[in-house]
Amino acid sequence: MVIINATDYTDMSRKAANLVAAQIVIKPACVLGLATGSSPEGMYAQLVARHQAGDLDFSHVTTVNLDEYRGLAPSHEQSYRYFMDHHLFHHVNIDPARTFLPNGLAADPAECCRAYDALLATLGPIDLQVLGIGGNGHIGFNEPGTAFEPKTHCVDLADTTIEANQRFFERREDVPRQAYTMGIQPILQARKIVLLASGSGKAQALRDALYDKVTPAVPASVLQLHSDVTVIADTAARALL
Ligand code: F6R
Repeated sequence: MVIINATDYTDMSRKAANLVAAQIVIKPACVLGLATGSSPEGMYAQLVARHQAGDLDFSHVTTVNLDEYRGLAPSHEQSYRYFMDHHLFHHVNIDPARTFLPNGLAADPAECCRAYDALLATLGPIDLQVLGIGGNGHIGFNEPGTAFEPKTHCVDLADTTIEANQRFFERREDVPRQAYTMGIQPILQARKIVLLASGSGKAQALRDALYDKVTPAVPASVLQLHSDVTVIADTAARALL
C-alpha cells in the first residue's frame, strides 16, 4: 500500500487525476471503476479539464460505477447516473453506451444484482478502481456488517450514511433508504485501487481501515488484502495515521 500525502482537497484531486489519466494513456481501452460523492468530484473536474485541453482521450474507455440509489431515475438530480453524467460523461468523449451503473429503477432487485455481476464478469477485471471511504468505513455501499458481501447486492443504508448523504437532499425523508452496490469481490479483483480521503471526518475511518484488523465491521479494511492500493489523503484525513 502506498500513501500519497496531499495538502488539501485540490491537491488530492490533482494527484488522483494524474493516476487516472496515466491509466488511460497507458491503456486507452481500460475499464475504470468509478465512485460518486464529494471525494472524486474535484478529480472529475481535473479530468474534464485535461480532456478539454486535448490531453486525454476517453473514446475507448469503459466505466463501471460502484453504486446507485434504489428507486431514483437517471434524471433525478441525486441519482448517481445524473452525478456521473454531469461531472464527467457529458464533458468528455466517452461512448455513453460504455458507461455502466446499476439500474436504480429495476423492478426486481435480485435480477438487477445478477445483471450487474454478469456485466462485471463480461468486462473482466477493472483496471483501476477509484474509491471514497464513508465516515463509517464503507466502500461503495458495502456497509459495516458481520460478513464481506462478495457480489452486487441491494443494501439498507446505515443511519450514519443516510445522515451523511442528507446534505445532498432537501429533507432527510428524501434520502433513499436502499442502494445497489458492487460487492467486495470485483473491488478486490481490480488491478489497481485508488482510495481518496479528504477532511477530518474521514480520519478515524481511514486509520481503522489501514492500520487496524481486517473486519467487515470496517469494510474498507479489506483493502489491506490487495497488493496495489494507493491512498491519496489530505492532511486532515491523515491526522490519525
Ligand atoms: C459513492 C460511494 C461511497 C462514497 C463514500 C464517501 O459512489 O461509493 O462509498 O465514496 O460515501 O462519500 P463522500 O466522498 O461524499 O464523502
